[in-house]
Amino acid sequence: MASKLKSHYPWISTPLISSAPMGGFAGADLAVAVSQAGGVGFIGTVIDMGFLDAELTSAASVLTTTSNNTLPIGVGFLLFAAKLHEASPIIAHHKPAIIWLACPQATEDFVTWTNVIRHCSPSSRIWCQVASVAVAMELAEKCSPDVLVMQGADAGGHGPCPGAGIVSLVPETRDALDAAGHEDVILLAAGGISDGRGVAAALACGAEGAVMGTCFLASEEIVLPVAEFRQSILAAKDGGTQTARGTIFDELKGPNIWPAGYDGRAIAGASYTDFKNGVAIEELRKRNAAAMSEGHKGFGGDIRAALWAGTGVGLVNEVKSAKDIVEEVRRTARKSHERMVSLL
Ligand SMILES: Cc1cc2nc3c(=O)[nH]c(=O)nc-3n(C[C@H](O)[C@H](O)[C@H](O)COP(=O)(O)O)c2cc1C
Repeated sequence: MASKLKSHYPWISTPLISSAPMGGFAGADLAVAVSQAGGVGFIGTVIDMGFLDAELTSAASVLTTTSNNTLPIGVGFLLFAAKLHEASPIIAHHKPAIIWLACPQATEDFVTWTNVIRHCSPSSRIWCQVASVAVAMELAEKCSPDVLVMQGADAGGHGPCPGAGIVSLVPETRDALDAAGHEDVILLAAGGISDGRGVAAALACGAEGAVMGTCFLASEEIVLPVAEFRQSILAAKDGGTQTARGTIFDELKGPNIWPAGYDGRAIAGASYTDFKNGVAIEELRKRNAAAMSEGHKGFGGDIRAALWAGTGVGLVNEVKSAKDIVEEVRRTARKSHERMVSLL
């Protein structure tokens, strides 16, 4: 198992730890630091492909290409927002080792993107993030992704809804893939994993590594709109109660641009409390705009803005370098495994 991962991604150490492609937050600095620490670092994108080109140029200036001439990092695309004809020339030029596809308008878009990427950068591997057994099976049949990232309901940021936690999602998907002859598709787990214990649990469930987003929001390399964002992440505890999933967070600045079937998990701050108390959306937008004009821009204090975070936020307690996060998570995953073995 580990040897297949190592042959595809020769720079990694195991267990595989990956930082999520958080659009607007995860740039070249984070991606490079994670890959240099033996993980898989991703640059996240939303719409602006000029940004992606600049970040990949920056990453290429410090990374050594792998033996198949790819750049040892990944790039993530939100399929409902990104334009394939703008993304593909950048992929062809920079050849990132991994292309991450998520959040399509229709499942078929995964197939279209996969076909074009395999043509324009044949050595790049395709990772698709999905949240159900059914979509995982459909993709295994239709476009043979190298990796399926199974996103559980605890995940920070956006994802398909409804969904299950990774403890049931990952093993059920593994069983279904194996039964249909798709043993070659690697599963990774994402959602609520913020330390090595979570990684060990994901491996026990049938994943071959973990993707973490929320935990890297406290990294030194993350790009944040204001410093208060990080303080709010560090202060949040008991993630099941202090975060919530919904579409309300996407309505705060104006109409929701996300397709039907998606929502997002964020800190359940003042906007969310008001929403639950029946405050109308127009009033919520007014209160959000007023907070955004203040010093903390709505990301600190009682939190009016959409501050995306998963249920694992309570385990994120200090600012660290991405290198330290990756190395510590790997170390504690092994320790956690030893503890598990001693209990069996
Ligand atoms: C701030 C933030 C931004 C995110 N942005 C994206 C994104 O642009 N594209 C994407 O595929 N996933 C995005 N995600 C979701 C991640 O891919 C991943 O599923 C999630 O971070 C895993 O759960 P965790 O946050 O509990 O570790 C984002 C997550 C967070 C927390």
